[in-house]
Amino acid sequence: MKIRFLFFIALFLVLFSCSGAYDPLDPTGNVTIKWDIMSWTTDGYIAIVTLFNFQTFRHFMKPGWTIGWTWAKKEIIWSINGAQAVEQGDCSKFKANIPHSCKRSPAVVDLLPGAPFNQQFGNCCKGGVVAAWGQDPSAAVSQFQITVGLSGTSNKTVKLPKRFTLLGPGPGYTCGPPKMVPSTKFLTPDGLRRTQALLTWNVTCTYSQFMARKNPSCCVSLSSFYNQILTPCPTCACGCQNNDTCVNGDSRILQLPVGNTTRKDNSSLLQCTHHMCPVRVHWHVKVNYKEYWRVKIAITNFNYMKNYSTWTLVVQHPNLNNVTQVFSFEYKPLIAYDSINDTGMFYGMKDYNDVLMEAGPLGNLQSEVLLQKDQNTFTFKQGWAFPRKVYFNGDECMLPPPDTYPFLPNSAHGSPHFFSMLISTLIFLFVYIW
Ligand SMILES: *[C@@H]1O[C@H](CO)[C@@H](O)[C@H](O)[C@H]1NC(C)=O
Ligand SMILES: *[C@@H]1O[C@H](CO)[C@@H](O)[C@H](O)[C@H]1NC(C)=O
Ligand SMILES: *[C@@H]1O[C@H](CO)[C@@H](O)[C@H](O)[C@H]1NC(C)=O
Ligand SMILES: *[C@@H]1O[C@H](CO)[C@@H](O)[C@H](O)[C@H]1NC(C)=O
Ligand SMILES: *[C@@H]1O[C@H](CO)[C@@H](O)[C@H](O)[C@H]1NC(C)=O
Ligand SMILES: *[C@@H]1O[C@H](CO)[C@@H](O)[C@H](O)[C@H]1NC(C)=O
Ligand SMILES: *[C@@H]1O[C@H](CO)[C@@H](O)[C@H](O)[C@H]1NC(C)=O
Ligand SMILES: *[C@@H]1O[C@H](CO)[C@@H](O)[C@H](O)[C@H]1NC(C)=O
Ligand SMILES: *[C@@H]1O[C@H](CO)[C@@H](O)[C@H](O)[C@H]1NC(C)=O
Repeated sequence: MKIRFLFFIALFLVLFSCSGAYDPLDPTGNVTIKWDIMSWTTDGYIAIVTLFNFQTFRHFMKPGWTIGWTWAKKEIIWSINGAQAVEQGDCSKFKANIPHSCKRSPAVVDLLPGAPFNQQFGNCCKGGVVAAWGQDPSAAVSQFQITVGLSGTSNKTVKLPKRFTLLGPGPGYTCGPPKMVPSTKFLTPDGLRRTQALLTWNVTCTYSQFMARKNPSCCVSLSSFYNQILTPCPTCACGCQNNDTCVNGDSRILQLPVGNTTRKDNSSLLQCTHHMCPVRVHWHVKVNYKEYWRVKIAITNFNYMKNYSTWTLVVQHPNLNNVTQVFSFEYKPLIAYDSINDTGMFYGMKDYNDVLMEAGPLGNLQSEVLLQKDQNTFTFKQGWAFPRKVYFNGDECMLPPPDTYPFLPNSAHGSPHFFSMLISTLIFLFVYIW
C-alpha cells in the first residue's frame, strides 16, 4: 500500500519534472548531435555530423542508433560518407545525378564495420554501436559526413532542420530543437593550422525509460548467508503479456539455428520464467568479517536472441563509498553530487567478460565485492545490506518489495512479520478446515 503510494509519487515527479527525462543517477546525461558546416557547394553545403554519447552508463547497442530529422525547406542529401540513409524516397525528378535520399524526413544509420574504404569517414562504421561516456569516452563518439543540396549556400539562407529524432536502437530518446552555437574550432589533419566550421548547431537528446517501454527490462533477486529464504524477482516484473511466446530451457526450438524461428522480431526470445525479464541481477550477501563484508553479484541473461556486449551495471548502496576490492569486474564510483558517493558502475573486463552471452549455460556473469564497514552505519537489519537501486544497461531493474527481503533472524524487523504470517496461515488453515 505504502509502496504503491510512493510509486505514484515517483511516477508523478518523473512525468512532471521539467523536460521529462531526468535520471538522478546521471543528472547531466545526454546525447548531443553536433552539425558542423565545413564548406559551401554550388547548391548547398558539406557538414560533419557528430554524435557524442555523454551518458555515464547508457550505451548504444546493436543494431545501433538511427538519427532522423525533417528538412525546413526542400533539401536533399546528395551523398553521405560513413553512414547511409534508411530510405531513398522519390528522387524521380532528378535525372542525371541521383541524390542519396530525397525524403523530407530522412533517417540515417551507421555503416557496419568493414565498410568499403571510400565510404568511410572519421569515427564511423561501428554498426551504430557507441559506448557510454563513463565507460569509454574514446568510443563514445560516432561521426559521418553529409553533402546537402537545395539548402542555400550561405549562413543567411540555410535553415536549421526540425524535429530531430534518435533511436538507440529502440525508442526512449527525446530531442530538443537544434540551437545555433559558436562555431567549432578544428585542427587541420596535419595538426598545424586551425580551422573553424562555417556554422554549427547542436541538438540535445535525453533518455526516459518510461518512453522506452512500459515494463522494466530487468529485475533483482536477493539472498544472504543469514537467512535461507531467497527473495525472487517479483512475478511478472517485466510484464507477462508475452508469456505465451517464451520457451522452456529444454525446448526443441533451441536446437534450431538462430534465424530459423517463425518470429518476426529476432531481437527477443525469452526463456519462460515467473518474472519474464530478459536479465536478472542477483545480490547475495555472502560473508560477514569483522571489518569487512562480501557481496556476490550474478547477472543472468534469459534472452536467447541477444548477446549484451559492453554491458553496464549501476548499483546504489550506501556502503559503495568504501569498496575495498572488486573481483573480475571493472568498477568505477559515480559521484553525481559532490557529497554523495553511494553509486557505482560495474562493467566487464575487455575481452574477458565484457559480453553477457545469450541465455544458456554461458549466459551469466559473476563477481564478488569486498566492502569495508563503517561501524556507525553498517547493519544487516532491515534489508540495509541490499541495493537501493540497480540499473542494467541504463534501465532501472525492478526490486522485490522491501517486506519480502531476507531478514536477520531475531531482528526486530523480521520476527513479527514472520509470526504474523505464521499466525495468519494458521487462522487460514483453521477456517479452511472448519
Ligand atoms: C550534455 O552533457 C554534457 C556533458 O556532461 C554537459 O556538459 C552539457 O551541459 C549537457 N547538455 C545539456 C543540455 O544538458
Ligand atoms: C555543442 O556541442 C559541443 C559538443 O558536445 C559542445 O562542446 C558545445 O559546448 C555545445 N555547445 C552548446 C552551446 O551547448
Ligand atoms: C557566416 O559565414 C561566413 C562565411 O561564409 C563565416 O565567416 C561567418 O563566421 C558566418 N557567421 C556565423 C555567425 O557563423
Ligand atoms: C501469463 O500471464 C497471465 C497474466 O498476464 C497469467 O494469467 C498467466 O497465468 C501467465 N501464463 C504463464 C504460462 O505464466
Ligand atoms: C528450419 O527448421 C526446419 C525444421 O523445423 C527445417 O526443415 C528447415 O530446413 C530449417 N531451415 C533452415 C534455413 O535451417
Ligand atoms: C530476422 O532474421 C531474418 C533472417 O536472419 C532476417 O531476414 C530478418 O530481416 C530479421 N528480422 C528482423 C526484424 O530483424
Ligand atoms: C553470441 O555470441 C556467440 C559467440 O560470439 C555467437 O556464437 C552467438 O551466435 C551469438 N548469439 C547471438 C544471439 O547473436
Ligand atoms: C567514492 O568511493 C570510491 C569507492 O570506495 C572511492 O575509491 C572514492 O575515493 C570515493 N570518492 C569520494 C569523493 O569519496
Ligand atoms: C571507509 O571506512 C573506514 C572505516 O569505517 C572509514 O574510516 C573511512 O573514512 C571510510 N571511507 C570513506 C570514503 O567513507
